[in-house]
Amino acid sequence: MAEIGKNIAKAAKFLTDGELVAIPTETVYGLAGNALDENAVLKIFKTKERPEFDPLIIHLAEKSQLMDYVQDVPEELAALASRFWPGPLTLLLPKKDLIPDLVTSGLDTVGVRVPRHPLTRKLLQSLTFPLAAPSANPFGYISPTRASHVQDQLGDKIRYILDGGDCEVGLESTIVGMEQGQVIVYRLGGISVADIEETVGKVLILPQSSSNPKSPGMLKSHYAPKKPVYLGDLDELMENFGRKGTVFAVLSFTRTFAEVPDSLQLALSKEGNYDEAARNLFSSMRLLDDSEAAVILAQELPEIHLGKAINDRLRRAAAK
Ligand code: TXA
Ligand code: MG
Repeated sequence: MAEIGKNIAKAAKFLTDGELVAIPTETVYGLAGNALDENAVLKIFKTKERPEFDPLIIHLAEKSQLMDYVQDVPEELAALASRFWPGPLTLLLPKKDLIPDLVTSGLDTVGVRVPRHPLTRKLLQSLTFPLAAPSANPFGYISPTRASHVQDQLGDKIRYILDGGDCEVGLESTIVGMEQGQVIVYRLGGISVADIEETVGKVLILPQSSSNPKSPGMLKSHYAPKKPVYLGDLDELMENFGRKGTVFAVLSFTRTFAEVPDSLQLALSKEGNYDEAARNLFSSMRLLDDSEAAVILAQELPEIHLGKAINDRLRRAAAK
């Protein structure tokens, strides 16, 4: 089992020695290693059982370090960085040679972000290298939003989990890049498309494709619980599965159901608050995945605020 604690110096020592440490960010927990050390980066892929064609993003302490690692920053993306960093935004930018090709899976762009969780910011400030960190879950499973989630799934493979409590945003960062002068959102995430568009105007949301993923976070089936997830009208789904005698769990946006046991239902936000719903999404999926239900029934949210990104994760969880 991994040690769980708040000791930044200890985490820094492991990382400096080329070991991996799970770190809290405002989005989800990351599985971090020295981004400039190929062996540490290789350990990340091995520990997550992640295919090496799926690139990692790097985390910096400060915006001002950006030019140490990338060649240039288009105006539009610079505007996004200055508005949303530190925060749940990842920018795809042309990388400098010091970033190992393993980090970017051979691509000439690197994903960069400045996280805002205070513990991880202090940790990054104490290091002489950036941290490569994917979400700290086995490849394809739901991302962790608290230390115990990491312990449950990767605890026997890593030494230390830096405990920063529950993740404040709860969805991964929004990934943004540019091609031929057009701003593109590659992954919906913790910053809404509306907020991005307020800064850079109309963006293109890259339609998901499972045959030729530009970004494997775009793979159709991802963020998936072990149990089958069915997405649709909850009343209809409950009626259908009830008739068949299937034990189901219900994940709703705001509603609760008198006829369903409390242990088999969760509302993401009873008040209909999208930020709260995002914060609760992954831990709710985990709880229902661990329940005695055979299937999870869920509904889509209205496509506003973080509803778009939440629906994206729900659809991928339901795609098998
Ligand atoms: O919020 C987050 O972004 C979290 C925390 C830990 O920072 N990290 C995270 O990493 O979600 P990961 O590896 O689980 O997801 C990063 C996604 C992957 O789908 C990867 O394919 C994509 O970013 N990606 C990374 N670098 C890329 C690049 N150069 N071009 C295209 N996609 C890239
Ligand atoms: Mg991930």
